[in-house]
Amino acid sequence: MSTIPAAERQAYIEKVRQDFPALHQQVHGKPLIYMDNGATTHKPNAVIDCESTFYKTVNSNVHRGAHYLSDKATEQFEAARRTVQNFIGALKPEEIIWTSGTTEGINLVASTWGRKNIGPGDRILVSEMEHHSNIVPWQILAEEKGAEVVPIPVLDNGELDLNGFAELMEPRVKLISIAHVSNSLGSINPIHDIVRMARINESVVMVDGAQGVSHFDVDVLRLDCDFYAFSSHKLFGPTGMGVLYGKEELLNEMPPYRGGGEMIDRCSFDGTTWNQLPYKFEAGTPNIAGAIALGAAIEYLNSLDRKILAAQEDVLIKKAHEMAAELGGIRIVGEARKKASVFSFLLEGAHPADVGALLDQQGIAIRTGHHCAQPLMARLGIPGTARASMAFYNTEAEVEALFKGLEKAKTFLL
Ligand code: ALA
Repeated sequence: MSTIPAAERQAYIEKVRQDFPALHQQVHGKPLIYMDNGATTHKPNAVIDCESTFYKTVNSNVHRGAHYLSDKATEQFEAARRTVQNFIGALKPEEIIWTSGTTEGINLVASTWGRKNIGPGDRILVSEMEHHSNIVPWQILAEEKGAEVVPIPVLDNGELDLNGFAELMEPRVKLISIAHVSNSLGSINPIHDIVRMARINESVVMVDGAQGVSHFDVDVLRLDCDFYAFSSHKLFGPTGMGVLYGKEELLNEMPPYRGGGEMIDRCSFDGTTWNQLPYKFEAGTPNIAGAIALGAAIEYLNSLDRKILAAQEDVLIKKAHEMAAELGGIRIVGEARKKASVFSFLLEGAHPADVGALLDQQGIAIRTGHHCAQPLMARLGIPGTARASMAFYNTEAEVEALFKGLEKAKTFLL
């Protein structure tokens, strides 16, 4: 349990909330309670202002112009790359590839590393709790190569079955691609242990970090994973922007992803050669403002006391679990011992979509359905869940309001 006094934590969070303008609005005539942070997070003024300032001032293309503004834009763009590098503890900025989001990061690895290294009969392990974006790119690759995508089992409580994983390890396993945090259950996977076991087998490990980076510090060197992908918009930054981290040695050996400007060294009809890292993977004009604003989101996070933020999330999820037990008639879906502030549940006797609609009428935003994790829902034998995914800017009062809303939903629906 957190040692930070509750009053101090709450006052800090109230102050932080002031940085997020979208939190202070009414929907359906009720104050917004935003608990759909797993889908996307709100943006602090620092990010909104950064993007707007970029377009009002230095707006120019990067690495191309021979003029003042282009130099400035390039400077800010590359500074943002270094901010990301330091944020996740990568060794070099060359290991940070800009993408449009986690999905593109995974597809990039599947299309380049995968096409080069996966062959007939090889196995790719993904867990049963993966988001579709960490299943389908591997299925496409496996289909093309005559390889196989094999699921790592998940236990009933939503934890990864590490024994089941160990049993699957064998020389045919060339790649393991796994979520750091399950988007639908909040389970935190033991990446370090997975990597350790993978090394014995010389398998490569890719981590889908979409739901990881927003909840805790990530250190890719300590995790020792080979690839780590995440999205800016789930990290309080703009949409359409993401990051793929890869170990330099692997990135260097990989063929390019897309052809176009910037990714070439020399282009001629006799043959074309590739640019150095990271540009080899960044064909076309990138999301310049998005990258710079992601840098601003990270600098904003760095300016906060992340211990208090983590304590807040811890308090919120524990409170949600306690209140669910008090209210009764709630089945919590996902009770991993290590879990992020994702409260996925079923109100017994009610359809999650109806629960979501009733909460929405009360100003409470959650997500309902299969959360792009149909195989997991099939494994758990449910069609979907209602999911309140909380960020550090949510409050205990909001969790109480969620349960008041659920009480009403119970009266109305059951
Ligand atoms: N992957 C996002 C979610 O879990 C969209 O809601």
